[in-house]
Amino acid sequence: MRTGRLLLGTNWKMNKTIRESVDYTRRLLGLLDRFDRSDAVQVFVIPPYTAIEAVKRASEGRLWVGAQNMHWAERGAYTGEISALMLQELGVDLVELGHAERRRYFNETDADVNRKVHTALQYGFKPLVCVGEQLEDKRRGIGKETVKNQVRTIFANVETDCAPRLIVAYEPVWAIGAEHADVGIEYVREMQAYIRTSLEEMLGRSAAAMVTVIYGGDVNLRNAATLVSESGTDGLFVGRAAWEAENFAELIRASLKAIG
Ligand code: 13P
Repeated sequence: MRTGRLLLGTNWKMNKTIRESVDYTRRLLGLLDRFDRSDAVQVFVIPPYTAIEAVKRASEGRLWVGAQNMHWAERGAYTGEISALMLQELGVDLVELGHAERRRYFNETDADVNRKVHTALQYGFKPLVCVGEQLEDKRRGIGKETVKNQVRTIFANVETDCAPRLIVAYEPVWAIGAEHADVGIEYVREMQAYIRTSLEEMLGRSAAAMVTVIYGGDVNLRNAATLVSESGTDGLFVGRAAWEAENFAELIRASLKAIG
């Protein structure tokens, strides 16, 4: 299904000081310089808010830099929140919305994510929206239904011409942070195809084909190449296995090799 460059990114979650973030960014760029076809991939990093500006500067326009969350309102009495207006000033390229940890620890709902998607699009960001079923959904055989319902609510009233900017990360909740989640290539292929079918119902066939659908959840050096070459994914979204620049670079190298 991949039409453009392979998208490979990492969510740093609540890790890294400004100094650590800049050091990581410089090391990663230095390593990418050694790769022959690094333009076949688009790499992105999602630092904590405090390091976004420094990472954006250090990335010299070569990486997409994102935020891990955003409020839907432009301003207001929302203590502790960050708005699109503030992120725009930092020059972020994408905004991650609805990560499983946001849902679990901060009670974020699909309806909240829908409001945030609209705001992100209005401000010119690429919304990177996370969807995925719980282990219980999978056990009960309602994994597909769960992701379809998520897609329906999250992309409600989104204009079809925004499709090229939409990124959906399929992240089965039970695989995130797990050791040896063993998700299975066929399973990823099937779920991502189902997400695309659900997107077709929302946006129409041609617009849905323009949405980037990536995979996340226990991506590591052992499974990255197979995921890239055999699951039909448009990219990978990595946590732990990319928190060291050298490890992320190795994963990028393996993915580049896999796409030939
Ligand atoms: P892990 O790669 O550590 O499982 O985390 C994935 C993730 O949450 C990406 O957003």
